[in-house]
Amino acid sequence: MKGLVLAGGAGTRLRPLTYTGAKQLVPVANRPVLFYVVDNLVDAGITEIAMIISPETGAEVRSTVGDGARWGAKITYVLQDKPAGLAHAVLTAKAELAGEDFCMFLGDNLIGTKIKAAVETFARAPEFGASVMLKEVPNPSSFGVAEVDADGNVTRLVEKPREPKSNLALVGIYLFRPSIFDAIAAIRPSPRGELEITDAIAKLIELGHKVRFERVTSWWLDTGKKDDLLLANDTVLDDWAVSGVRGEVDGDSKLSGRVFVDEGASVVRSSIRGPVVIGKGARIVDSRVGPFTSLGDGVHVERSSVEHSVVMEGSRVEDIPRLEDSLIGRRVHVSPGAAHLGTLSLLVGDDCKVELGRKG
Ligand code: DAU
Repeated sequence: MKGLVLAGGAGTRLRPLTYTGAKQLVPVANRPVLFYVVDNLVDAGITEIAMIISPETGAEVRSTVGDGARWGAKITYVLQDKPAGLAHAVLTAKAELAGEDFCMFLGDNLIGTKIKAAVETFARAPEFGASVMLKEVPNPSSFGVAEVDADGNVTRLVEKPREPKSNLALVGIYLFRPSIFDAIAAIRPSPRGELEITDAIAKLIELGHKVRFERVTSWWLDTGKKDDLLLANDTVLDDWAVSGVRGEVDGDSKLSGRVFVDEGASVVRSSIRGPVVIGKGARIVDSRVGPFTSLGDGVHVERSSVEHSVVMEGSRVEDIPRLEDSLIGRRVHVSPGAAHLGTLSLLVGDDCKVELGRKG
């Protein structure tokens, strides 16, 4: 079986971060979301992977992920010239998939379960034309929604219905056979102008194929928005973070819980409460960090307290008594500036969100 990872698309929901970077590369516990996707495919024995990229962020995705050698996998890249929908992305990769069964994994989906068992079951069940993963959610209208029968078959699928008939959302992991191409050929763009994979699977059922499903009982996050991303960071730190000090921690600092300090990082006169990951070459001085915080490579935190936040590479936080629930992009400088004189001095890009303390 081959893998198809979707790392294209426009990525408007995490703006401003996604103006300059692909949303699939946003770090969770200091690793790009896409890395967890590749981990999961490779764990299931899927090592030939085609990755869909967009003209805007393709080069960055490619240079970050590479040729797959670090996973013992082979990753090839397929340029999708416009974000015309998930089924359009599948069509774009037709030549790479070369008539084989494949697992399609959306590059911004993080899931707490391994897909290996589902992949093996599908391989042993040729009577099914496709297999999807479903998760009960409180807000099904934001997703593709499935109806199922008691025998384990999907009976109906609708993309983001206004009035959902079930609370079972389609998780962004799908198993297909080459028959999906016949279904895609028979659908038209949706009201949002995209060729929807949800419509293609519904068409597959209409064409007489059986579609099975697996219920996802673990956590699942589609890391589209700030709160989702912070939640993904919490969950991954909680479930998978390991302790380890590869950098330097001085005698006046205290680490508690699971704290990972990467190579070249230094912690000086500071208290770190895990789970926390601190990236390569980061520097923490006279500060308190954690819990549930990821500091990227080269981040500097000085005379500050940072809790439940993601600070991406190269950013500096200085003299901030309490920074919480924050997502700070790359190369950002956060400091009080002239605020102590009653004046603020800001340099903020388009579409940023700045929440300052209230007067008094
Ligand atoms: O996250 C699960 C949901 O993903 C499903 O429940 C929906 O049925 C499915 O349509 C999809 O909905 P979204 O609206 O969240 O999809 P989004 O546009 O965010 O795209 C998902 C990923 O695929 C994302 O990493 C970007 C990439 N993509 C997207 C499009 C539209 C492409 O590579 N090419 C594309 O043309």
